[in-house]
Amino acid sequence: MVSIAFVEPDGTVRTIDGREGLTVMETAKRVGIAGIEAECGGACSCATCHVIVDPDWFARVGPPGDEERELLDFARQVAPTSRLSCQIHLTRALDGLRVAVPPAHP
Ligand code: FES
Repeated sequence: MVSIAFVEPDGTVRTIDGREGLTVMETAKRVGIAGIEAECGGACSCATCHVIVDPDWFARVGPPGDEERELLDFARQVAPTSRLSCQIHLTRALDGLRVAVPPAHP
């Protein structure tokens, strides 16, 4: 299991057990994390799965790829550690990951 702490738009923190191989977005959708809409189903074409990775975790998660970076230009409240959660694949190294869902999408 890979534990992920989601900070929902209202500040509620929910700690969820994810599975290696799934994405952060798939884990969020499975339990109904508020603010993760994921309209494109993980195809990297909507930006409604935007999360802000805790700065302490960003080096381990890594930066967005080119396509993802372009899409993030359309997201609101983008931060230096913003990622699209459908592009973050869970590995054991991400156990304890913390991400925040911005209040408004896209
Ligand atoms: S679910 Fe659409 S970009 Fe991530």
